[in-house]
Amino acid sequence: MCGIVGYIGHQDTIEILLKGLEKLEYRGYDSAGIAVRNQDGIHIFKEKGRIADLRGIVDQSVEAKTGIGHTRWATHGVPSKENAHPHQSASGRFTLVHNGVIENYEQLKREYLLDVALVSDTDTEIIVQLIDLFSKEGMETEEAFRKTLGMLKGSYALALLDSEAAETIFVAKNKSPLLVGLGDDFNVVASDAMAMLQVTDEYVELMDKEMVIVTKDSVAIKKLDGTAVTRDSYKAELDASDIEKGTYPHYMLKEIDEQPLVTRKIVQAYQNESGELAIDDKIAKAMDEADRLYIVACGTSYHAGLVGKQYIENMAKIPVEVHVASEFVYNMPLLSEKPLFIFISQSGETADSRAVLVKVKEMGYKALTITNAPGSTLSREADYTMLLHAGPEIAVASTKAYTAQISVLAILAGVTAKARGIELDFDLVKELGIAANAMEVLCDAKEEMEQIASEYLATTRNCFFIGRSVDFYVGLEGALKLKEISYIQAEGFAGGELKHGTIALIEDGTPVIALATQESVNLSIRGNVKEVAARGANPCVISMKGLESESDRFVLPEVHKLLTPLVSVIPFQLISYYAALHRECDVDKPRNLAKSVTVE
Ligand code: F6R
Repeated sequence: MCGIVGYIGHQDTIEILLKGLEKLEYRGYDSAGIAVRNQDGIHIFKEKGRIADLRGIVDQSVEAKTGIGHTRWATHGVPSKENAHPHQSASGRFTLVHNGVIENYEQLKREYLLDVALVSDTDTEIIVQLIDLFSKEGMETEEAFRKTLGMLKGSYALALLDSEAAETIFVAKNKSPLLVGLGDDFNVVASDAMAMLQVTDEYVELMDKEMVIVTKDSVAIKKLDGTAVTRDSYKAELDASDIEKGTYPHYMLKEIDEQPLVTRKIVQAYQNESGELAIDDKIAKAMDEADRLYIVACGTSYHAGLVGKQYIENMAKIPVEVHVASEFVYNMPLLSEKPLFIFISQSGETADSRAVLVKVKEMGYKALTITNAPGSTLSREADYTMLLHAGPEIAVASTKAYTAQISVLAILAGVTAKARGIELDFDLVKELGIAANAMEVLCDAKEEMEQIASEYLATTRNCFFIGRSVDFYVGLEGALKLKEISYIQAEGFAGGELKHGTIALIEDGTPVIALATQESVNLSIRGNVKEVAARGANPCVISMKGLESESDRFVLPEVHKLLTPLVSVIPFQLISYYAALHRECDVDKPRNLAKSVTVE
């Protein structure tokens, strides 16, 4: 979702901002812009479309030492040049970029800005016009900024330029992520450390309702009441090569291929000195004490949560409910007496999940976050964190984070079982190792998957994924992957549910991808395949070794029955990838989507 960069120093400001924005492209956006300040005033360049389009209109001859930049994912107002950030106040003095949503912007407009001719449909413009208004009333910029922040309801990460303040960026944060990066004779601002890794790896986190006055050699963090805040910086543990595509044509393909390695890394990360799986004692205790677990997540992470429920109930024997965060927050079920909440979030910044976390913390409950992003909001605000160790996931469509979430959930379930005195009848470390090897075999099956994609999906307008038991959950993920990157309407269904309505959609040639990895439901899913085939569908069965039939399209290497999602999802990821390529879709940056969904 929207991304912010800012730079203040002596290097090539425009190029640093543009490169920073390119690094934020993965978050998803539909327009972009930069503003730089020099002795002639503030120069704004903005454009609908990609950073490459913005590069096309930027006047590279403008020399400046201070600047801010933004990628916009439209919320208020269509994607357009007018609505793109930066926004400037009516007087031209202030220029602002914003990430987040201002809930009371209509009210603020009515109360304070009826006389101002607004030029965009955005909530952001209200902020910059208010700052202008208060400064015209005689306030210093810092005071006008603070007064405005005090009036805003909602989420914001802000970077502001004042044409009259020499070499300063005014920054503020509430609920939306923002960092200040430190350099030698320069400082930067970024939504994500990745954006500015090119110039520094030293960052200071900002907390909600803080503002910062950044110059090239000072960073003054303050609370909104003006109290100074001191905070240590940290080194961003990111390797610049982790965020490059290398020889891969797309990040998604690179990230699919990284999955076996990530699984092995996770096992290592959670092994103690004697090679046994171990988690923080406090987490094991909280799990053991809970009478029910509530897994809360969105999208792909929700799908991983469904698999996690199977693991925890099977291994640790604790009842689990899995909920979509955006529903849970407004429609909370009756909670058990001793609940523990588990948030699964690759980015750790998803606003829907965070809204639930804030609510359950207010209710006094404990929470564990499973995330790929140490230091992210969901990690900081929960009581406990388990890391995914997956490395940066750049493609919008989540792949390696999904399998990493499943591996971590398996470890959480296995260790909790042990802590509760339940002996597993299999060796989880060994079985995860076998699964990682099988994942490797599947990553090498690209030609077969490309073939399946071109045979079944090259021209279809829809596609169904069916499965039973855990295969149903993986089917949901397969359908999400396919629809989000290829725009084919794809849905996942429980095999047994088809006859209760969905089968009406089956026409001649409708592709139905069926997963058969579970012995207990093998016969019944094959019955469902026959039902759709009898009505003209074009079934593509992917089964597990030992359960295969002659007509199956692809047979997966055998892994432990609980760990099949780690391998069965890979064909779905690859089929989706090749289907998107066939249809000439932008694989890494699908339309309308954002990587880090920081608005509710
Ligand atoms: C789909 C996808 C999304 C995310 C969802 C939650 O490929 O990536 O469905 O899973 O937006 O994001 P996180 O896990 O960052 O909370």
